[in-house]
Amino acid sequence: MRRRGFISNLALALPMAHAADGFAARIQELSESINTAENEKALWERIRQEFLFHTGLVHFNTGSLGATPRRVLEAMSGWMYQLEGDPVSNVFGPLGYRMEQVRAKAAALLGATLEEMLIVENTTSAMNSVALSLAKHLKPGDEILTTNHEHPGGAVCWEYLVKNHGVKLIQISMPAPVKDQAQIIQLVKDHLTPRTRICSFSHVDTITGLQMPIRAISELTRPREIFLVCDGAQAPGMLQVDVKKLGVDTYASSSHKWLLAPKGSGLLYIRKEMQDQIQPLPFSTGYQAYTAATGTRNVVNVLGHGMAIDFHMAIGSSRVEARSKSLSIQLRNRLSENPNLELLTPTQPELATGLVSFKLKKSTAAEVFTRLQKEHNILVKVVAKPEYNAIRFSTHVYNNEEETERTAKAIERILKS
Ligand SMILES: Cc1ncc(COP(=O)(O)O)c(C=O)c1O
Repeated sequence: MRRRGFISNLALALPMAHAADGFAARIQELSESINTAENEKALWERIRQEFLFHTGLVHFNTGSLGATPRRVLEAMSGWMYQLEGDPVSNVFGPLGYRMEQVRAKAAALLGATLEEMLIVENTTSAMNSVALSLAKHLKPGDEILTTNHEHPGGAVCWEYLVKNHGVKLIQISMPAPVKDQAQIIQLVKDHLTPRTRICSFSHVDTITGLQMPIRAISELTRPREIFLVCDGAQAPGMLQVDVKKLGVDTYASSSHKWLLAPKGSGLLYIRKEMQDQIQPLPFSTGYQAYTAATGTRNVVNVLGHGMAIDFHMAIGSSRVEARSKSLSIQLRNRLSENPNLELLTPTQPELATGLVSFKLKKSTAAEVFTRLQKEHNILVKVVAKPEYNAIRFSTHVYNNEEETERTAKAIERILKS
């Protein structure tokens, strides 16, 4: 216990340690080169140089995993070498202490306080923790409201409670594309009953890329004392997220997607006022990155996670969101010209994101996916609901207009042949 207290007190008192090892300077250098770019094109070209993609690969699947920038990897490699010079002293000393700075950066990024922010490995583990800690509030017959578009990472936890605690899972059948926000809000209202205890929705729908109106949903759940759990796997690093504005009780995310953090990096927010009711076992002895209940952490990964947040901030959250959405709109417009494709993603700005999905009328999604990859070196994602027969595109800071055009032409060719 004494060691934990020491770590938590010291950690935030060490902000200069990061600057001292030169990695903060490398973020500063990136920031300056971005801010002095001659024009937009030069700026994005500059950012593209930060990534290690094989020549010619078009990575349109950040929704599965993002690519970590070179300077984050270089920093991690430095920390790895430093750590192994004296593992115990570093993990439970200078390097380990810095994990608290990462928590602080994450809290600032999502609009939370430090006391509400946890570093986890991914969305799935965070959702599992939340669900298990909510089980004690549920009685047989209580209802959990969700949709039929949740990813297993945000759904298996509720299926587990159904099997083991006798609760009921109610799924809203999502329209694709959704007409407008009012349609979603009405669907949620229609499915709430006096037995609804939990609402669990993705912030960004993994199937269609729809941005759920979480704020409006929280205005339905909060007065009814329904727990609002949000699976934010597809949002931070793409959309600007403010958990307070969203009004959620918990928010889980995977930083190895749009935040471009090393693989195995995630965040969990638990609203302060709910912390007496939602108590994940791994954080039952405190929210620090390392506690008696978490055990030893992968310090280098956590520090890389923090540096990925720095990288994101150097570009700027609003600039990243605008770029991701603008490439997505280009791809959407271009592919919408194709009579063999049907858009599943809504076009209204408040519902659209950097993910766009199309149903294939002629070929199978698996065939188009394979031909795009094999013949054109373009990586997309087959939508995980076979009944849609659809493919999904993610557009991020390392993509560009030339890639959207190349992809549109490649798909035209594939669908013609
Ligand atoms: C909405 C959603 N939730 C959860 C996950 C699972 O993420 P992870 O494997 O990082 O836990 C994904 C992954 O694609 C997702 O899209």
